[in-house]
Amino acid sequence: MSISPFGALRTHGAGTLRAEHDGQTVTLAGWVDTRRDHGGVAFLDLRDRSGVVQVVADPEASEALEAAHRVRNEWVIRITGTVRTRPEGMRNDKLDTGDVEVAAQSVEVLSASETPPFPIEDGVDISEEHRLRHRYVDLRRPEMLKILQMRARTNSVMRRVMEAHGFIEVETPMLTRATPEGARDFLVPSRLQLGRTYALPQSPQLFKQLLQVSGVERYYQIVRCFRDEDLRADRQPEFTQLDIELSFGDQEDVVALTEELVVTTWRDILDVELEAPFPRMTYAEAMRRYGSDKPDLRFGMELADLGEVFADTEVGIFKGALEAGGSIVAVTLAQGGELTRREFDEWVDWAKGRGAKGLAWAVVEEDGSLRSPLAKFMSAAEVAGVVEAAGASPGDAIFFGAGPTHGTRELIGALRGALAKARGLIDESRWEFLWIVDAPMFEQTDDGSWTPVHHPFTAPSDEWRDSFEDHPHEATAKAYDLVLNGFELGGGSVRIHDRSMQQRVFSFLGISEEEATAKFDFLLRGLSYGAPPHAGIAFGMDRIVMLLAGRSSIRDVIAFPKTQSGSDPMTDAPAPYEETGLRDLGLRLRPGIGDDERTSGGKSEGKTSGA
Ligand code: AMO
Repeated sequence: MSISPFGALRTHGAGTLRAEHDGQTVTLAGWVDTRRDHGGVAFLDLRDRSGVVQVVADPEASEALEAAHRVRNEWVIRITGTVRTRPEGMRNDKLDTGDVEVAAQSVEVLSASETPPFPIEDGVDISEEHRLRHRYVDLRRPEMLKILQMRARTNSVMRRVMEAHGFIEVETPMLTRATPEGARDFLVPSRLQLGRTYALPQSPQLFKQLLQVSGVERYYQIVRCFRDEDLRADRQPEFTQLDIELSFGDQEDVVALTEELVVTTWRDILDVELEAPFPRMTYAEAMRRYGSDKPDLRFGMELADLGEVFADTEVGIFKGALEAGGSIVAVTLAQGGELTRREFDEWVDWAKGRGAKGLAWAVVEEDGSLRSPLAKFMSAAEVAGVVEAAGASPGDAIFFGAGPTHGTRELIGALRGALAKARGLIDESRWEFLWIVDAPMFEQTDDGSWTPVHHPFTAPSDEWRDSFEDHPHEATAKAYDLVLNGFELGGGSVRIHDRSMQQRVFSFLGISEEEATAKFDFLLRGLSYGAPPHAGIAFGMDRIVMLLAGRSSIRDVIAFPKTQSGSDPMTDAPAPYEETGLRDLGLRLRPGIGDDERTSGGKSEGKTSGA
């Protein structure tokens, strides 16, 4: 015996009925989507996951009509009736079932509903907080259901590709020790061992590496990860990775597998044929040309370096930046001369809001001169040099930043994206995939210490294997990130599989042998029992589905997401906990304590490590 396609309580899905069912007796069950009660006859639009069909109750079936008078929107009902083709002129093109209706013989109430907190319609303007508080109702909206289905299909396409290449899904612990991925940990206190805690995994990184030591060779997992960091539209405290690791392979295997995953997913889910291989760009080039390690290539607006133009300048802020070893970076906005003075001021405020000291701007006039608060300080040669280096034409606006090179490029890179978005310059129909390769191994923090750009288990590029400690500014890693339309979809690397190399990296990062033993003894031991060369990657599934679904927040593609402040308005998590339970854990919660020390957890995912 097999499960009936629509469940034992019904014979058909409401949305599946067509003219070919004319004359059939069907039993349907679902929610009352809308009702029009004309007294003598009542029309109910019945909705289930498959769609909506119109049900008609008339005096010929008086009990059914009676019941239909009583029901309200969002009540759950079951009806039995006869499918009939609607007369010509009465068809409803807006419904897939619009050629038919069901004449009810019986209407049974399975469950009543209070008046819903908001209409179950797509595109209604309701606050997200309100939607999330009643998420069970919000998810009834056809658009939301479609996204959940798309997400499930994406998982299944990816599993199919992984399995076709011999990868096996292995589950790794959720109650574990900290895995450094650059964020703070969520902790779970132990009752059996008071005074000790588990950490929820920021990723399964170390377990997947140890599975390679175990000889699993090809591992994958669709896995929940937890990071306590500042939240944004593309960041949640818990999110899902497609996590991958393989032995006896290198960057090229991971890249080829990834491209197959992505091409197959886009084909199966969107019917879009992507062109692979995807282009590759070094981290250094991406920073120089776009001021970002995840550049959006759907539009141009490349950054210009104006160091040479202003080499002998008397413009104070530019001179100061160059003398301090920094850069002057510009981006050109076509037709930006249309902006009002107030709009320019708003962009300056935007830059200040991101921590910049300021932002200079200029408009190119018809005669090639510049209209700008700075113009009177520039020489004629500098004006001509700026216009040429920025590739600007009359009517365009040029924005300049000056200061330490990396930060200034990042500022103008972010401005590039914000300007393009604000001015509608992005071609939303394009899919611009890009690999960012040869990222630096390390970056220096404000206090002068070094942190890994990816994580501390990433292998140095061959040319830096023997000398990365002496050249931490230049040393690159065997790391690769996949970027799509300005979002980092995934990141991975070839790993260190040699214990002494791993110890060298720890030691360079200022992790003492003692600390390394305390935190990562299991990894170091694992690496000393015959570790094969291995490499891997992890994708943010939430971001992939967000982009597939054309949404701008991952909250839209997660069934029960958290708000920007990390709470769930529906369950009201996080919540206080009962005193006895806390006592069993040896805990006392102190509301408010620690607020001052609380800082952002990590700059961007995978970009710092508290190893
Ligand atoms: P990384 O930290 O780059 O790498 O994470 C991989 C991908 O996970 C997604 N992601 C997130 N999505 C939503 N919310 C978040 N808070 C969040 N943080 C990360 C991003 C990111 O590209 N262990 C390594 C992978 C490896 O080296 O194999 C890791 O976790 O899409």
